[in-house]
Parts: sequence; C-alpha cells; structure tokens
Amino acid sequence: MNNKKIIVAIDGFSSSGKSTMARELAKRVGYVYVDSGAMYRAVTLYALRHGMVNADHAVNRKELVAALPSIHVSFQPAGADGVQHTLLNGEDVEKVIRDMQVSALVSPVAEIPEVRERLVDLQKKFGEHKGIVMDGRDIGTTVFPNAELKIFVCASPEERARRRLKEMQEKGENVSYDEVYNNVVERDRIDTTREVSPLRKAADAIELDNGDMTREQQMDRLLSHFDEALKKNCP
Ligand code: CDP
Repeated sequence: MNNKKIIVAIDGFSSSGKSTMARELAKRVGYVYVDSGAMYRAVTLYALRHGMVNADHAVNRKELVAALPSIHVSFQPAGADGVQHTLLNGEDVEKVIRDMQVSALVSPVAEIPEVRERLVDLQKKFGEHKGIVMDGRDIGTTVFPNAELKIFVCASPEERARRRLKEMQEKGENVSYDEVYNNVVERDRIDTTREVSPLRKAADAIELDNGDMTREQQMDRLLSHFDEALKKNCP
C-alpha cells in the first residue's frame, strides 16, 4: 500500500459544488478536509457581531484588522452528522456562517490583505504534513502553489444559483432565486477582480465543468485524477 500523501487543491467559483466534492474526496481517500471559505465566513461573522459593519453594509477595515489577533478560527472534526464544524473562538458557528447576511459580506472581507495573510498562513500550516484536500479560491495559486493535484471547478452562474437556492431552502432559509443569483454573480466579480490572490485557474490546474455531471460522475472523475497524481508523485 502506498502511504505517501499529496495535497489536493480545489478552486472555483461561488457555489460550484467545490466543497461537496472536496469533502467527499477527502472521505474516500482518508485525507483531512479543510474548507477555506468557512474561515473567511467566520471572520465575516466576527465583524458583524462586533459592530464593524455600518448601515451601508461597509466593513470597517481598520477595526477588523486591529481585531485579527483575537479572532481564532478552527475546525472540529466531523461528528455524528458527518460534517466538520467551523469554530470561531471556540464557538460552533457552522450553521450561521452560511446565512445570506454573511454571504453578502464575505467577499469584501476576503479582499482585505491582512485578513488573507492571516488565514493563508493558517491554511499553509494545515498542509504541512500533506494528506489534505482544501477548497477555495486561491488554493492552487497562493496557498499551495506546489499542490500535486489542482482542480478548477466551473458551472454556469444560473446552474450554481439553482443549486445554492435548493441547498438553502432545504435548510429552511427563506431566500429568492434572484437574491441568490445576484449574490453568486457579485461574489464572482469581487473574487476575480480583487488585488490580492484573485480567483484564477492555476496554469497547471485541471478544469472540471460539472454543470451536466451527476455527483457520482464527478467523484469518479476526481478519483481517477487523484490516482494518477498519486502514482506520478509517490511512485
Ligand atoms: O459559498 P461558496 O461555497 O461559494 O463560497 P465559500 O467557499 O464558502 O467562500 C466564501 C467567500 O470567501 C468567497 O466568495 C470568497 O470571497 C472568499 N474566499 C476567498 O477569498 N478565498 C478562499 N480561499 C476561499 C473563500
């Protein structure tokens, strides 16, 4: 049995199904899964809870940067529900960080260079021993530029908005398709145009358009890329 490990970086647009793919892959191959988006969401929640967002929905960058040393984001391994939970200063915030209120503010928060610097450092530490699947926007370009397997996921904004709406409705959130669609498009815009680590496909990433794929087809494709990368890098 080959017990050498690699790093898998999964990047892509908002609501492209990256997290589901990354989580499933990690489970199948026995790797650690890290949802880097959840870390940006947790910092956003902190800003909201500490009055750092004004009535015009602008984030007070200075205050948030000053508070960074007291913001600790960590993960609690998957429990009975099979889902890893995000902790903000020790509190389980897994559900609340997925709210529309956080989604609406997360991309402006993720644009702040000091926020990125802090979270990227932490993300790099998670990968020190390899054996990790991390999903996000800049994992293959900035966090792990030497990852042995890089996947870039895409699907049309309409398809992504439909999926996210279904997911939110299943959780009992009362949101409209237009609200979700506009949030998806706006986050894509901010994520691709920001100055620090914009969302880009790494030159050596494999593009995976999952618009017409079932979850099983997607996983089969991913597992075969994984096996190939493992063979190539850990012969
Ligand atoms: O909701 P979705 O799965 O599409 O996004 P997410 O992975 O939870 O990430 C939320 C937001 O965090 C993104 O829209 C980005 O603005 C930001 N993010 C980032 O800038 N860099 C990452 N590596 C991950 C997320």
